[in-house]
Amino acid sequence: MRILSGIQPSGRLHIGNYFGMMEPSIRLQETGEAFYFIADYHALTSTHDPARLRDHVRNLAIDFLACGLDPEKAVFWRQSDVVEVTELAWILSCVTPMGFLERCVSYKDKIGQGISPSHGLFAYPVLQAADILLFDSNVVPVGKDQKQHLEVTRDIARKFNDRYGEGLLVIPEPRIREDTATVPGLDGRKMSKSYENTIDLFEETEKKLRKKIMKIVTDSTGVDEPKNPEGSYLIQLYRLFADAAAVAEMEASFRAGGLGYGHYKQQLFESIRDHFAPMRERRDALAADPGYVDDVLAEGAKKARAQARQVIDRVREAVGLG
Ligand code: ADP
Ligand code: TRP
Repeated sequence: MRILSGIQPSGRLHIGNYFGMMEPSIRLQETGEAFYFIADYHALTSTHDPARLRDHVRNLAIDFLACGLDPEKAVFWRQSDVVEVTELAWILSCVTPMGFLERCVSYKDKIGQGISPSHGLFAYPVLQAADILLFDSNVVPVGKDQKQHLEVTRDIARKFNDRYGEGLLVIPEPRIREDTATVPGLDGRKMSKSYENTIDLFEETEKKLRKKIMKIVTDSTGVDEPKNPEGSYLIQLYRLFADAAAVAEMEASFRAGGLGYGHYKQQLFESIRDHFAPMRERRDALAADPGYVDDVLAEGAKKARAQARQVIDRVREAVGLG
């Protein structure tokens, strides 16, 4: 089984990114051939400052390795080091009906957020399809918001196979974890950079982390009154870090009343801090050794490229370019 996923280097990572994409990917590296990459071509749709882009790529590489991506088990590379993906994207563009892209909500969402409407932004899902199809991927772990892009990828692969030959491209399956499908942000909306409601994976200081947790929106139930655990963002977040018994205990304490939300927020703060403490340590060590990170990405690119070559040769031959 081949597992593949990518993530854009578009700024600091938050715990929505972690539970939606990184943690499932890291777990899956134990179960099959894992291929993970930093989607820097995609980031060009929104990041126009070269120094920032380089910085984001490096930080993302460090963060992913710190969180447990193991280069002995997973191939890890920078998307733009495997240029074959742009060739496949063009070939796929020529089998993609306009309607496939016109129905994508992420294009409209991104324009709504102020990203300039370029051809690259519109064609983004075709490049994503190329990322996936270039590696004969079977399983793609992503957050729920990528579901539509995966559907488009499957539709493009089917179109390609209809036109050029059954079985040429492997049809991938999305892997979306339902329990953490959407991690809520501080305000209860989906946690997202663009809503400024994130808890970062590596907040600069404990104080900053605590301050953010204290901002989580709660209702105005008084300290002594019983509180409703259903629909509480605080509990939804706690569930990501605590075991079932600890969550049940917090829920029971909510119902009993007698403690204010500040108390539960402190508990959440401590569990987040402790969860990421070992990763923070590894991250500091990696940041001090940039040569190691460069070597991992260079080695990953070599392996990824060898794999990509097989598919691109097959595709070129099938369409009449080879
Ligand atoms: P953002 O919304 O902050 O810009 P991205 O769109 O760059 O995040 O998402 C990167 C990855 O993290 C994707 O796989 C996405 O599905 C996942 N992801 C982002 N936010 C969340 C969230 N709140 N809950 C679960 N997964 C998320
Ligand atoms: N579009 C994805 C996101 O914003 C990133 C991505 C690019 C990706 N190519 C991919 C994810 C291929 C999975 C597979 O998060």
